[in-house]
Order: sequence, then C-alpha cells, then structure tokens
Amino acid sequence: MRGLPWPAKAYLVVVIGAAAALVGNIVVVPGQLAGVGEYGTLLVLALLFLVCESMPTLLNVEQFAVSVSFSAALAAVVLVGPEGAAIVGLTAVVSVRPGLPLVKRLFNGAQFAICGYASGKVYEFFGGVTGVPEVNDFEALVGPYAVAAALFVPLNIVLTLTMVRLASTERAERMPARGMAQFLLSYFGYATFGLLVAGLWATVASISAVLVLLPLFIARWAFGQYHAQQRSYDATIAALCQAVETKDYYTRGHCTRVSLASTMIAQEIGMGAERLRAIRYAGMLHDVGKLGVPTKVLQKDGPLTEEEFAAIQLHPMRGLEIVRGIDFLDEAFAGIMHHHERHDGRGYPMGLAGDEIPEFARVIAVADAFDSMTSDRSYRGARPVEVAVAELHKGAGSQFDPEMVAAFVRALEREPWQPPRKASPPPCDETETTTKDHDDPTMPIEVVGGS
Ligand SMILES: [Fe+2]
Repeated sequence: MRGLPWPAKAYLVVVIGAAAALVGNIVVVPGQLAGVGEYGTLLVLALLFLVCESMPTLLNVEQFAVSVSFSAALAAVVLVGPEGAAIVGLTAVVSVRPGLPLVKRLFNGAQFAICGYASGKVYEFFGGVTGVPEVNDFEALVGPYAVAAALFVPLNIVLTLTMVRLASTERAERMPARGMAQFLLSYFGYATFGLLVAGLWATVASISAVLVLLPLFIARWAFGQYHAQQRSYDATIAALCQAVETKDYYTRGHCTRVSLASTMIAQEIGMGAERLRAIRYAGMLHDVGKLGVPTKVLQKDGPLTEEEFAAIQLHPMRGLEIVRGIDFLDEAFAGIMHHHERHDGRGYPMGLAGDEIPEFARVIAVADAFDSMTSDRSYRGARPVEVAVAELHKGAGSQFDPEMVAAFVRALEREPWQPPRKASPPPCDETETTTKDHDDPTMPIEVVGGS
C-alpha cells in the first residue's frame, strides 16, 4: 500500500471497508445466512471459485486478467443468493497466486463480494428464486439472471478500473476499444456458463460445475499459454531490435516505427491476422543484419568505397542468416531479405523488380523510407510528414510499389502519424551515430571507385 497515491488508498479503504461491513453483517446478524440454503452447496461453490480464481488468464491487454471464477460467482447468485454470493466472492482473498500482494487480494475479495451481493439483490428484485432450481424452473430464472449478470459485469469493471486509474502515477493508458470489447465479450461469455452451472445443478449437482467449467477452463488455459508464447516471441524480437539500435543513436525507435507503419499498410491492403503478426516482426527485424556490418563502415564520414558499400548491401543477407533459426518468423524472412529491392529492379541484394519482390518487402520498403525521412539524422533534421509523403509519391513506380505507397497514404489519412520526438545530440563518445542512413531515399550514400 506504501507508494500508492492517497486517493487510491482512500478508495481501497472504502471498498474493503464496505465489503467487510457487508460480510460481517451476513455472518454476525442472526437469520442472514438463512437464504444461503445448504451449506454444502456454498462450500462447493466457494471451492470452485477459489480454484478458478487461483488461475487467471492474462488478456492481451496489460493489467487485465480474467478467469473462469466469474462463472462460479454468478452461479452462486442463483444457487446460494446474495449473501452466499458475497461469501463465495470473498474467498478471492485466499486464492493461490504466489506473489500477489495482500492489498490486491483484499481488494479482489472485496469487489467480488460487493458485486456478488449487489447482483444477488437485483436477481431477487426481478423475481429470481434463490436455491437449486428445478428442471422446469430454468426458463423463469433466465430473465432475472440476465439482469444480475448485466449488473455484475459493469460493476466489476468500474470497481477494478477505478482502482487501476487511481493507483497509476502516470496518466493511465486508455484501454483500446478492441481490448474493451474483448474484455466485455469474455465476461458476458462467462456469465452464460454461470447460468449453465446453476441450471444443471438440479440434475447432476456439483458435477455440473465440472461438466461445464472444465472444458472452458482447459480452453482458457490453452489460450493463456498461447498469449504467454506470444509475449516471449515479442520479447525476443524486442531484444534483437535493441541490439541493432545500440549501434546507432539516431536510429533508436526506428524498428518499432517501421513495424507500426508496415502494419498500417498491411491492414490497408487487407492482410489477415497471421500475416499481420509476421509483418510486425519483419518490420522490427528488417535491419537486424546491420549487426553483421562493421560499425566503422556504418559510421564512416564521407563517400564509401565499393567494398564498404558492398558490406552495407550485404545486411539483408546477414539479417536472414541471423534470424533463420527462428521458425515463427515465417514470411518475415522474405521481408528482411528483400527490403532494399526497388520496383524498377535496381535495388539489392538480388535486383528483383515489380511483383518478383515479395509483398512483405514491398510494404517494408515504403515504411522504412518514410520513417527514415521523418526522423532526425546526424546530417539533417526530420522532414515533415507531407514532405516525406511527397517523396514517396515521387519514388512510386521507380523505388517503391505504387500500390503500397497509395495504401500507406490512405492509412495516414485515417490514422495520423506521430513522428518521433526531436533527438537531442548524443552524449559525447558514449553513443555511436552513423553518418549516412542507408534507408534515406533523399540522401543516397555516395560511393567512390576502388578501395
Ligand atoms: Fe536496411
């Protein structure tokens, strides 16, 4: 709790205090537990909730974890009423999640208890009958259950997001609309499973939870594994990027921006999700081969000899050699290998032309040149976006694929480009800078004959 801003501390005290008063009242005041029904059902639901809550799945959105426990909490609303649902929710405090701070445990338990109780009351208010439903009762409980779930979901999100916002010292990053939609859909999906657990309880009792939730739980686990794998891929790529960018102060952030611009073009031309991921990686790694080019060549002031220029021209091949063993890169290999080919066939390393150039490479070529032009370099300042776009138009049909240039311009109209912040001069002798950028179409590298 130390280090939290005071509004976050005050909020924590209010939420935890409210839940403590609520559960205390249920446990201490005689008669309050009468609506809970059989304690065996309460115990099974609490255990089920606890198991599920102990294994949350991180969504692709930072800081947000959802778990199957949500279904158990909503099933409790029907089976053991508002008081029972509050007790079930409170068990989140003792979930088996090593390293989870006590404050977070208390908050989780408190907010689940409040949500469970409030939804239970709404369920009853709309005519829902508490207890194990008869087979014929199923239809009657659907309406009140839907209202209860419709309250549980937003209340849970509001309570959690308020905490996240108040606890963040920096301006909280807004959850993207797609992330929020994923989050809400996920929650409403769990609500449906809660209804199934409650409905089946009459026929197969607690086995209904296993029947309904086990496949769901396994699916969520597999999904979580997939996301964990994606995160480790991203970390691997980011580490390689970092290695490339430490070679040159002025190209810091270039890989990430090329990746972003490539993704914008790829979305515009309608690439599917798998290819979008691959092109994101290709954009990040397009210049990884610079690791294989002597720094003194990259940094050389003045014209390059033919040998030195040949070393620069080798970087796409070197890049391919470096990442060849990373099998998840798939089509990204072609993007790395051919990102300096030109539409007119005068590029390198193979001199491919037009449609012979792989699509990934044609996309990256545009993104790469654009970011180079709109970023500061040691020998010139960043060009405005309009100037860079005019250069792309000028090179369309000779250096660049006109279709990719047009797609990028359309994407820029929809989603304005955020140029990198102005680069302050690098600290003396501590950082390396290149004299000329091989990606800059406005300032070609000069080459002199002989070595
Ligand atoms: Fe390059």
